Amino acid sequence: MIGDGFRHRVGVKPLEVTNWFLHDGEWEPTLAMKRALIADRRDEVVSFRDDSHDVAQEAAELVLAWAGKSTSRTGVDALVDAALAVPDDLAVLRSVATGDGEQLPFVAGVVCSPSRWRLADKIGHDMLAVHKPVALYAAHIGAAVDTTLTRLSTDKPVWRSNWTLEDHPALFQPFAPGRQLVEHPRELWIRIERETLRRLPRTRGVLFTIRSFQEPLTTHVQRGPAAIGALRELVVRLPDAVARYKSVYDYRAATLMWLDSLLA
Ligand code: HEM
Repeated sequence: MIGDGFRHRVGVKPLEVTNWFLHDGEWEPTLAMKRALIADRRDEVVSFRDDSHDVAQEAAELVLAWAGKSTSRTGVDALVDAALAVPDDLAVLRSVATGDGEQLPFVAGVVCSPSRWRLADKIGHDMLAVHKPVALYAAHIGAAVDTTLTRLSTDKPVWRSNWTLEDHPALFQPFAPGRQLVEHPRELWIRIERETLRRLPRTRGVLFTIRSFQEPLTTHVQRGPAAIGALRELVVRLPDAVARYKSVYDYRAATLMWLDSLLA
């Protein structure tokens, strides 16, 4: 039944640091896109709070060391240099001690592949506020995300993934179009985010990285009946509110019909 059996899941797995960033054919084109966005639309892709420079710099040093590079720049400028060394987006959380634990607000980011959200809206906010538009986030995983972050240790980096369907292939999509952009599910794209989380040893902040991969749905279904069936399950299980958030709602009936025709 439509909308049954869905839960957002934290689903973090141990990360092997040699695979922190994944080399593929999109590495160079993505870096070229990032260079252009940082040059032409910097205010939309770089954002930070004034108290973020130390933690941003530590995050930058870790990424640059992994990539075999360095920079003479400091603070958020170093984070920009690090973001141009790997295709992934970089989001930095600051560790703030509270009476009974720790808060981790999102304080600096270089984000060139947002999936219909705006970086400047998120800076300075905690995880619950950052995820406010995500239907059922608080009910399903709000507390578990906070616990995952506060328990994150320097020697146990983790990764997870997210998926959605989109009707436009741009990696940089700060806005939702507010209307259907295509006619048939054959024109949709599947977009998968691979996200990693690392605790920073010096400042105790957290670095969250996001790499977005996309392929046309027509390519995805060529993986065969198991892949088609798995996608069908994902799409059918989404409650309406989550389907709306993921921009799947308007395409759901047609997509299910099309996937069924491929399985018949
Ligand atoms: C274990 C950690 C995390 C989990 C489980 C998680 C989970 C999610 C989920 C389920 C979504 C909705 C995506 C979709 O269904 O299409 C989402 C969106 C998002 N997440 Fe996270 N997230 C985590 C950490 C973070 C961190 C550390 C940041 C820091 C910036 C972040 C920033 C965002 C943003 C900006 C969005 C888009 C929100 C919007 O549409 O306005 N997430 N996350």
